[in-house]
Amino acid sequence: MPDTSAVIVAAGAGERLGVGVPKAFVELAGEPLVLRCVRVLARVVDSVVCVVAADHRERAEQLLDTAGAGDVRLAIGGETRQDSVSAGLAACPPSTRVVAVHDAARPLLSEELARRTLDALQPPWDGVAPGLPLVDTIKLVDPQGKVLRTVDRRGMWAVQTPQVFPRAVLERVHARVASDADAATDDLSLVERAGGRVRLVRGERRNLKITYPEDLALAEALLAAEPT
Ligand code: CTP
Ligand code: MG
Repeated sequence: MPDTSAVIVAAGAGERLGVGVPKAFVELAGEPLVLRCVRVLARVVDSVVCVVAADHRERAEQLLDTAGAGDVRLAIGGETRQDSVSAGLAACPPSTRVVAVHDAARPLLSEELARRTLDALQPPWDGVAPGLPLVDTIKLVDPQGKVLRTVDRRGMWAVQTPQVFPRAVLERVHARVASDADAATDDLSLVERAGGRVRLVRGERRNLKITYPEDLALAEALLAAEPT
């Protein structure tokens, strides 16, 4: 496999979780979310870059030191997720050929999922991400809640991370969309918009995104139910 790096974006504020510290530092079964991600991804890739907010650099350094997480580089994030990914990308070792971008907000990714996603990055693909078919009925509503229409759910998938790309592809699209107007909530969208060929592989239900307090409770329950 070519030289691979993981960029773990952990520089968000975690406002919707609302616990006063950034989500990445919130603990799940006694371990900060970001550390769990580092631990899993470090077993799969050659190097890991952790992107944290400037105010939390020291905290992150201490955490990674005490955890003995190995060679993990730190980068300072930006205002948007996209800025943070760009900063992480710039901090990848020069030898990196393939980059896996992962949200620290998804602490339950498995090693197997990361490997399977990386393995799927073969020609002609410019990007691969895990995803799952939607299970809820989907409706388009106006700001008052009035239903405008029901969207046909068939073929609709919700997308997860880690999302993997040839480094050159990701760098090119990030350089192109420097303005906020072009902001996207994930990297696969950027590549797709630039005309790249992207595909999904089957994700994992446990690879949920911690956004609201209930998500954290759910993740705790999933971990507790696992054989150790
Ligand atoms: N992220 C980042 N830099 C930002 C914004 C987000 O690195 N400027 C990261 C978050 O740390 C998270 C991932 O992108 O791991 C997905 O973002 P989200 O779930 O929205 O996390 P937060 O922005 O932290 O949460 P909220 O939007 O509720 O404040
Ligand atoms: Mg956010």
